[in-house]
Order: sequence, then C-alpha cells, then structure tokens
Amino acid sequence: MHKAMKGLRFPLLALGALLVTSAGCTVEREPNMEFAPWINHMMFSSAAESFAPSPVNAKTGKPVFANGRVNQLPPAGTIPRDFVPLHFSNDEAGRLAAAAAFPKAPVEASPENLARGAWGFATFCVPCHAADGSGAGLVAKKAGWNFPIGYTDSNAGKWADGYLFHLVSYGRNNMPSYASQINQLDRWKIILHLRALQQQNGAAPVDPAAAATATAPAAAATPAAK
Ligand code: HEC
Repeated sequence: MHKAMKGLRFPLLALGALLVTSAGCTVEREPNMEFAPWINHMMFSSAAESFAPSPVNAKTGKPVFANGRVNQLPPAGTIPRDFVPLHFSNDEAGRLAAAAAFPKAPVEASPENLARGAWGFATFCVPCHAADGSGAGLVAKKAGWNFPIGYTDSNAGKWADGYLFHLVSYGRNNMPSYASQINQLDRWKIILHLRALQQQNGAAPVDPAAAATATAPAAAATPAAK
C-alpha cells in the first residue's frame, strides 16, 4: 500500500464509523436506512390476511396454522378486558345468593361515586322509575306499570344491595337487563344513589339481617317466560 494511503487509513475508518453510527439520527418521520435488504426478512415479510386461508410455510409446505386459518379462536374461557363474569343464576335463588354475597355495595358512598350513580340513574332508570323513584316515569305511565323503588315502603327499601345489583344486571319480567349498557361498577354506584334517594324520602337504612333473606312478593318472583 502506498505510504500516503496508509496515513489515510485511520481517518477513513473513523469517517466510516461516524457515517454508520449517525445513520440512525435521520428525520424520524421517514423510514430508516435499509441495511443489507437481501437478508431483511422482517422488513419485507408478507402480512397474512385475517380471513384468507393461512399462508403456507415455505420449508414444510404446510399451512402456518394447522387448522388452515389465519384468525384463531381465543382459548376457552377467554373474556374481554375489564369484563367480570357474574356467577349468579337468573332466578330468585340467584338474587338471594347475590344478596348474601353483597349485603352492602362494594363501593364507597363518596361524593364522586354518588354523583356518578345519580348520572346513571337519570340516564337509565328515570324513564320508568321517575327521578324521585316514585315509579311514575313516562314509559311506566304509558305501559301502566307502577314500580316505586325510592320509598320506605318499596320492596327495594327492604332488599340487600346485592339483590338490587342482580335486578339491574339481569332484569326481571318487564324490567330489562342493563348488563350490556352499564358496567358493574356503575351499577353499584346507581344503587348507592338509589339508597340516598330512599333516605331522602324518609327510609331508614336497610336492616342487613332482614335484607339477607328478604325475597320478592310471590307475584313479582315469577320468572319471566322468555
Ligand atoms: C323500561 C322500563 C324500566 C327501566 C328503564 C328500569 N326499570 Fe326497574 N323495573 C321495571 C319494571 C317493569 C319492574 C317490575 C319488574 C317485575 O315485574 O318483576 C322493575 C322493577 C325494579 C325494581 C324492583 C321493584 C319491586 O318492587 O319489585 C328495582 C329495584 C328496579 N326496577 C330498579 C331499576 C334501576 C336501578 C333501573 C336503572 C338502572 C331500572 N330499574 C330501570 C322497569 C324498568
């Protein structure tokens, strides 16, 4: 090698190293420099279509997924994020089991929770049960129903919080289930609001011992023929 070249070797190497290390510091909105694209399978991998047949493994000649599909079923028992399944049956026995499991709502009656409950009640319950819980909501009037829930003498004033939670979760007869519209936490907060309403209307706090076994009057206990 020529003498002058030898002298240049280090500066050239240094310049090369600088170029390589600074390659990553390009504008972030643009794709980075491709290094050795012929071995870059990750950069040029082909995406499988969700509903098309599974691609074939080039080496084995078999579909990537044994069942030949791309979209796979979730494993048995999978639940959506934030979804908590209820394990109470949809009948009076289930309502009593809920009453026993939850004599009191597992949610603190803080001003925030009560405000949220008041919002939920106004949104979902008022059309039938009215803002004061008198049962004279617009829908109820048209349908000829009268189910007061906000008073001392209402059944709801005698039942445990868990019983009411079950009612709102599963519905009963003409009362629809609110499980798909109100999440569990909000259902409990609505019950907190309902309790506050009952007390405003002169109800004594629920007696936990009596509420544990308080059941529906015979007529209302008949399960809906669905
Ligand atoms: C579409 C109208 C409607 C809406 C909305 C509704 N309910 Fe009801 N509710 C009813 C009917 C009808 C009954 C009587 C069910 C029966 O016959 O078993 C009832 C019964 C009840 C009872 C039991 C009353 C009793 O004495 O048997 C409670 C407690 C209750 N509802 C709470 C609620 C809450 C809380 C909400 C809001 C999340 C709500 N309801 C929304 C129609 C409704």
